[in-house]
Amino acid sequence: MSKENLFLCMGSACHQLGVYEVLPKLQALIGEYNLQDKIELKGSFCLETCSYGIVMKYKDLRFINISPQNVEDKFLQEILPNI
Ligand code: FES
Repeated sequence: MSKENLFLCMGSACHQLGVYEVLPKLQALIGEYNLQDKIELKGSFCLETCSYGIVMKYKDLRFINISPQNVEDKFLQEILPNI
């Protein structure tokens, strides 16, 4: 089974909003839910929705308004059900 990429925007707007705090939290969540075999977490260039908080992309889905504070809730409620 091939892995699906989960992209985390590393563009400058998302960087300013704390992407480097979001990244380790996502890595921990991926470990916690045993998703290492299913998804590959990758950095991406600007996903072009810079006004909507930190952005993630999975297949053709975008997840917006992510912050270091809400990343766990967002992951559980929005991202995990799509994986
Ligand atoms: S910098 Fe993240 S969407 Fe543009």
